Amino acid sequence: MEAQPKPILAVSDVRRDYGGLKAVDGASFSAMQGRITGLIGPNGAGKSTLIGIIGGQIKPNAGSITFDGRDITGLAPHKIAGRGMVRTFQLSAEFTKLTVLENLLVAAPDQKGESLLGAELSRLYWGRNEAANVDAARDVLDRFEMTPKEDELAGNLSGGQKRLLEIMRALMTKPTMLLLDEPFAGVNPTLARQIEQYLLDLRDEGLSMIMVEHELAVVERLCEPVVVMAQGKVISEGSMRDVSARKEVLDAYLVG
Ligand SMILES: Nc1ncnc2c1ncn2[C@@H]1O[C@H](COP(=O)(O)OP(=O)(O)O)[C@@H](O)[C@H]1O
Ligand SMILES: [Mg+2]
Repeated sequence: MEAQPKPILAVSDVRRDYGGLKAVDGASFSAMQGRITGLIGPNGAGKSTLIGIIGGQIKPNAGSITFDGRDITGLAPHKIAGRGMVRTFQLSAEFTKLTVLENLLVAAPDQKGESLLGAELSRLYWGRNEAANVDAARDVLDRFEMTPKEDELAGNLSGGQKRLLEIMRALMTKPTMLLLDEPFAGVNPTLARQIEQYLLDLRDEGLSMIMVEHELAVVERLCEPVVVMAQGKVISEGSMRDVSARKEVLDAYLVG
């Protein structure tokens, strides 16, 4: 028998309005330790807004978020990251001008690399933690078979390799939970399958994840359980197999 999964994240009655629009309208769900929780639903359902609220980038109007036994509602993203929960981000223009290795080094927690200034400084001054960070970065590169790209400018990577680099950057902080918003968007099918396997390996090592993904076949392969949102609300939860058969879910996707 499989051990009973432990909840690691609890989202409780979270709300976020934009003017009169209820982007997230009283959403509640739990994510389990060592699982990839899928967050699905039609366009505009509120998935990205909810991911932003969990990661601290967007402030909720109401509701609470508990992570690893502690209330993190409204904390700044770096505080939440410090507690082990990290959201992946598309590489900003500044970071495309750094090499792959530099991107990993500035993502390491001891670097003052939040800004480009930090990145430039870290290039000039090899700090005390540099050697350890380089080792950690090389381990990550090796694991994702990106060692040959170490000195490549991030801007020269393929779309899929950039998405992979986003995940690698997040892993440099040694998170316990990753928030992934459409990690396969713009990734060719071969690399997407490879990234799927990497995510499954990370999960099997105990990393918890929440993943927004529109490709339901991918969700079925990776995610258990699945949380379905529509119009800002959680309308269903369960295995992909179960939720995909439910009338409210089919209706939500038909209405769009
Ligand atoms: N910053 C914003 N300002 C105004 N409306 C927003 C903003 N962010 C999201 N919305 C609206 O909130 C709703 C939910 O958006 P979003 O969370 O991006 O949905 P999803 O990721 O499920 O497609 C949509 O109607 C969207 O237009
Ligand atoms: Mg979205």
